[in-house]
Amino acid sequence: MSHREPGPESGKLIRDEQQWIAPGIQRLATMAGIAMESGQGCLLQDADGQTYLDFMAGVGVASLGHSHPRWASAIASQAAKLSIGSFASAPRLALLKLMASLLPEPLRRVQLYSGGSEAVEAALRLAKAHTRKFEVVAFWGGFHGKTGGVLPLIGDPFKQGWGPLAPGSLLVPYADPYRPPIDSLDPAECAMACIDLARKQIEATSLGSVAAVIVEPIQGTAGNVVPPPEWLPAVQQLARDLDALFIVDEMITGFGRTGKMFGFEHSDVQPDILTLGKGFGGGFPVTAVVAAESVAEDSHPWSKPSSSSSSVGGNPLAAAAALATLETILEEGLVENSRVVGEHILARLETWKERFPFVGDVRGKGLLLGFDLVTDRKSKTPLPTKLTHKIYTECVRRGLLVMAYGARVRINPPLVISEEEADAGLDIFESVLTDVAPEIG
Ligand SMILES: Cc1ncc(COP(=O)(O)O)c(C=O)c1O
Repeated sequence: MSHREPGPESGKLIRDEQQWIAPGIQRLATMAGIAMESGQGCLLQDADGQTYLDFMAGVGVASLGHSHPRWASAIASQAAKLSIGSFASAPRLALLKLMASLLPEPLRRVQLYSGGSEAVEAALRLAKAHTRKFEVVAFWGGFHGKTGGVLPLIGDPFKQGWGPLAPGSLLVPYADPYRPPIDSLDPAECAMACIDLARKQIEATSLGSVAAVIVEPIQGTAGNVVPPPEWLPAVQQLARDLDALFIVDEMITGFGRTGKMFGFEHSDVQPDILTLGKGFGGGFPVTAVVAAESVAEDSHPWSKPSSSSSSVGGNPLAAAAALATLETILEEGLVENSRVVGEHILARLETWKERFPFVGDVRGKGLLLGFDLVTDRKSKTPLPTKLTHKIYTECVRRGLLVMAYGARVRINPPLVISEEEADAGLDIFESVLTDVAPEIG
């Protein structure tokens, strides 16, 4: 297996850049110790010409892989024509029409943004405007961005140090079958037990003013955690019982990532609002709020002129990039590819549970997969970071970029990945796990 130590060009670029760049960029980049030069499909090439298979896709952003020719040329020709402004434009109209054709009937009103957190904040503002209420229910393990309005919704210690946070958020347990809120909980009962607990917690702590319940259909940042099938309908029922809007944050799960066009389509639910981003623009920064007609209309102040807009959201360039991305996803059958290759990867991961005692569970839908690394299966103690960091850097050195730097491993390659490429990446991963196994004991 060929080994890739960071080369001199990577070293030079990183050293020079370190003089200027602020600390705090993604851990996966700093730990890898390489500078990137180019990419094509599922392959990335570093500054010294060494290639890597990409199982990260920029954390689900590179839905079409890298530098898809159709996407690149759509952006180039639109940039040469018109980029800026919120006037109506042909690419925006085509994009809105295409989105409408992909979504169920009531979800018709789209507002476009350029960041995921920005879109989620806009969705929350809309929910507050529509319901005239102000509390938001979110979930343990959830992640909806890092800006002020969504930080309080983060369901883990990440938000520590940024207090005081805006009041009004209620964090309740998510149905994580492998790591349920109560250790003794049977995975089969996890969903309903979590909802019961959520109801009791809301009753005890809410000010009676819940505007929205926001949920990820599969929790990405938490580790690509797949809840039981009855979970999303139960969350929707919770929202309905609270007379609150049901917001599904599809930032990661949208546009084919889970083997269906949208993550919520695995369940029989009808969201009031969707938040979309990441793979939506295939790498161009474009995100969206999609609301039911009845929710978006007359929801003052959100729906007043200039109240839900932003400087670059949905400009002609962003619209052209998103349009090219969605057209390519449809024409190349990438939703189906995600389902088929995802099943193939999941089947191989299942065999790892037999081979490696430190693989706790495996999970996934489509190309959103993961597993837990544990010291032993009984205690489920997460593998120490010393070891997960070693696994991560060893994967990089052998040519695989995969989010394995923590005990909850995330696998989310570009949607264009082939079975052969998936196998090549899994071969590398397997070889690394085999070699570190003696250290884990
Ligand atoms: C579910 C979800 N919502 C929102 C966001 C925030 O998106 P952004 O990083 O573009 O602000 C993320 C980012 O990871 C996410 O996973």
